[in-house]
Amino acid sequence: MSENGDKPADILTTKDVVAGYIPEVDILNGASMRAAQGEVVTIVGPNGAGKSTLIKTIFGLLTPRSGSIVYRGDEISGLRPHDITRRGLSYVPQLDNVFPTLTVEENLELGALAKGKPTERIERMYELFPRLGERRKQDAGTMSGGERQMVAMARALMPDPDVLLLDEPSAGLAPAFVDAIFEKVKEVNEAGVTIVMVEQNAVRALAMSNRGYVLDLGKDRYEGRGQDLINDPKVAELYLGGGGGRTEAQAEQAES
Ligand SMILES: Nc1ncnc2c1ncn2[C@@H]1O[C@H](COP(=O)(O)OP(=O)(O)OP(=O)(O)O)[C@@H](O)[C@H]1O
Ligand SMILES: [Mg+2]
Repeated sequence: MSENGDKPADILTTKDVVAGYIPEVDILNGASMRAAQGEVVTIVGPNGAGKSTLIKTIFGLLTPRSGSIVYRGDEISGLRPHDITRRGLSYVPQLDNVFPTLTVEENLELGALAKGKPTERIERMYELFPRLGERRKQDAGTMSGGERQMVAMARALMPDPDVLLLDEPSAGLAPAFVDAIFEKVKEVNEAGVTIVMVEQNAVRALAMSNRGYVLDLGKDRYEGRGQDLINDPKVAELYLGGGGGRTEAQAEQAES
């Protein structure tokens, strides 16, 4: 259902989320973002900005200290990850995202929600990722970085989610695999899955996104259409240039 004639409704929003790992140390300092149904939304920002923390908090691995996380109109903060998965969100972690001693197929089986062998869904994943079908009996730990990323993505897609949270899907991959991964992300999105991803390959990711956010020191600093963020001289200089300078938020903090 649309809020108005042409704008699809938000499927996921975070508002002023504060969260952290250690008591009294806030990593997220009021992070707000939204994703409309069917969008690709990318979150970029410097190392340590809290990008992974935001994704983990949405998925219920951390409980917000304040603020709200709303999925399809329901507050989901405080729910456990498996309840969040049941509601239709899936998550691919930045690191350690496959079971290395299990085969490709066993990894996919573990991703399924229902009991029993989810044969049809697994076959659907092999259609989407033919490479995995060829290697279904291979241990996931012996596959290349790009192939492992595909296993992780396929595992997260097993429950047929409406929203896929991806943390750095292209990290550490050779250029050919970066292309392949972004191509798959696009394909998954075109099949109807809303994508919220974090990416260091910021320009690449923003270029294929409907909208994006720059997160710095745990707060959303810029929001815009993907291409508009790329073209914004300030964003480009501070966050997309790969320069080693102080970011705007860090400069403000130093001055205060
Ligand atoms: N499990 C943890 N326990 C304590 N502190 C943590 C934990 N995980 C992350 N942090 C801290 O939270 C801050 C933000 O980390 P986070 O991983 O969210 O950053 P990021 O933006 O994803 O960075 P990167 O681009 O390097 O992946 C960092 O200062 C980090 O040290
Ligand atoms: Mg991270």
